[in-house]
Amino acid sequence: MPGTVLVTGGFGLVGSATVRRLAELGRTVVVADLDTPANRKAAEQLPGGVTVHWADLTDAEQTGRLVAEVAPEVIVHLAAIIPPGIYKNRALARRVNVDATATLVRIAESQPAPPRFVQASSNAVYGARNPHRATGPVTADTPMKHSDLYSAHKAEAETIVRDSSLNWVVLRLGGVLSVDPDAIPFSIDALYFESTLPTDGRLHTVDVRDVAWAFAAATTADVVGEILLIAGDDSHRVLQGQVGPALAAARGLRNGLPTGRKGDPDSDEDWFVTDWMDTTRAQEALNFQHHSWQDMLDEAARRAGPARYVLPLAAPLVKAILQRRAAYWKQPGKYADPWGAVRRKLGDPSPDS
Ligand SMILES: NC(=O)c1ccc[n+]([C@@H]2O[C@H](COP(=O)([O-])OP(=O)(O)OC[C@H]3O[C@@H](n4cnc5c(N)ncnc54)[C@H](O)[C@@H]3O)[C@@H](O)[C@H]2O)c1
Repeated sequence: MPGTVLVTGGFGLVGSATVRRLAELGRTVVVADLDTPANRKAAEQLPGGVTVHWADLTDAEQTGRLVAEVAPEVIVHLAAIIPPGIYKNRALARRVNVDATATLVRIAESQPAPPRFVQASSNAVYGARNPHRATGPVTADTPMKHSDLYSAHKAEAETIVRDSSLNWVVLRLGGVLSVDPDAIPFSIDALYFESTLPTDGRLHTVDVRDVAWAFAAATTADVVGEILLIAGDDSHRVLQGQVGPALAAARGLRNGLPTGRKGDPDSDEDWFVTDWMDTTRAQEALNFQHHSWQDMLDEAARRAGPARYVLPLAAPLVKAILQRRAAYWKQPGKYADPWGAVRRKLGDPSPDS
């Protein structure tokens, strides 16, 4: 049995599923995450074979102690601050996403037996993608582009890992979704942020359980030194504006979400940092794609329970309320202006200068 896997950010969306998958495989797992009331509560539900080491990875001393005490054979590095929170907490996000990654890598390199390092990256590293101009799908060789703070942080963190002396693997994830409505906590900011995104932008979704499968497989597979693109099968090649309404309809809220705006076909930058991805090599190496988009919708419907019969009645009211809270309500113009809308309500989205 391979040695201990240290999962940073192990109580997040991807982390919780990855820890579950590793535990299913009988692996010894240590979760490293922030000591918060929500994470303490989640810690009570951890599967057997999993322990917690509370650590703030922006603190180099805590990180040093963590790695020395756990002596992991593999580090799965998931801890990060992602959109939309990243735009509200620029300075902290840099410390977590870039500086803490550099510290963790340096500490890992200095261990007597340096661990394999599996880095969570994102299709965001390719920057804004205008589907009218950008040819796709993106591959491991498609050039990186800094379009916003998140794409820049993910690219910088990935470069730190790839330039290290560790046995590294980079997983670039698509849009991670869950059929569990509680897995992605509801927030007004997230709702607003989603309404900023061009509805005809390409998005490659993936079930979080398949992402977890990929991370677990990447801890042992013969993939050192590879950049692997982690997204669902071809049924997951969708458009941004399809996803929210389809999931909401599966849960009973048909026609309950307002329609957003399309992106500007003549702009290279006024698009979000997602695109369809070529997952051929990742699937060959990790065999992780098990849930189609339709499977996810069917399961979301099954899990919705009796609420499915009540929600249709609420749909018109919900839609009217959300319409007024959406990014382009009473805004001039015809096309989506995602970065302008983020700046107006959340914070400066531009890359660090
Ligand atoms: N969710 C997606 O669609 C998606 C897409 C592409 C890439 N990714 C990447 O996957 C990884 C996991 O994303 P997620 O969706 O699970 O995010 P998440 O926000 O659900 O989880 C992040 C975790 O990191 C922890 N964390 C934050 N700051 C920390 C610190 N200073 N010290 C220790 N832990 C800290 C948080 O407490 C949280 O548990 C990230 O690196 C993200 O960039 C996610």
